[in-house]
Amino acid sequence: MTEIKATNITWHEGHVGREDRHKLLGQKGATIWFTGLSGCGKSTIAFTVEHALIASGRLAYVLDGDNIRHGLNKNLGFSASDREENIRRIGEVTKLFADAGLFSLTSFISPYRKDRDLARKIHEEAGLPFIEVFVDVPIEICEQRDPKGLYKKARAALAAGKGMGFTGVDDPYEAPLKPELVLANDRVTPQEAAATVLAHLQDRGLLPR
Ligand code: ADX
Repeated sequence: MTEIKATNITWHEGHVGREDRHKLLGQKGATIWFTGLSGCGKSTIAFTVEHALIASGRLAYVLDGDNIRHGLNKNLGFSASDREENIRRIGEVTKLFADAGLFSLTSFISPYRKDRDLARKIHEEAGLPFIEVFVDVPIEICEQRDPKGLYKKARAALAAGKGMGFTGVDDPYEAPLKPELVLANDRVTPQEAAATVLAHLQDRGLLPR
């Protein structure tokens, strides 16, 4: 866990509570954390769920790996420690969004179990729902899809004896052991996958039926 560097800082409680925000928005916040290989369809499913939630009058927001790496996390690369910091920051941001009352959806490979577990822990300690969704697609299929041509690049780099530390090729991916949901996105459409997520939110009492 990252230590607090600053000294002489004091925690302040505001005058508005989580309940006040829930009343205002008519919803309780939650984080829905999609994890899986590059090209597995995390972002497509997350954006489909976001669209469905907004269409039904619920506030939702997607934090997407590629997009966040253009801004908040533009100073991070793909070393294990940079990926850890990437996920630590997103864990903290989604905790804030969920506390604000949003459905916050993340689409990051988040390859390390301990980093995802830390994101879960900070939510649980804050009494906020954390729903881990494993988008389970075999690497062969992600590699066939290769929407950004990165698997091809990674294989070429490997063949040239350099390697580029690409997840699933020459960098690890640790599948979740106990995710709340597993979506086999090579066998269901993004719409079906999104419907499964929405049904789970209903089962958890986070969305009305
Ligand atoms: S994570 O591992 O730190 O969670 P993140 O989801 O933010 O990764 O970013 C992954 C995206 O960055 C991939 O979908 C891909 O488009 C791109 N990318 C570029 N280089 C790599 C790499 N070495 N490994 C994985 N993804 C990479």
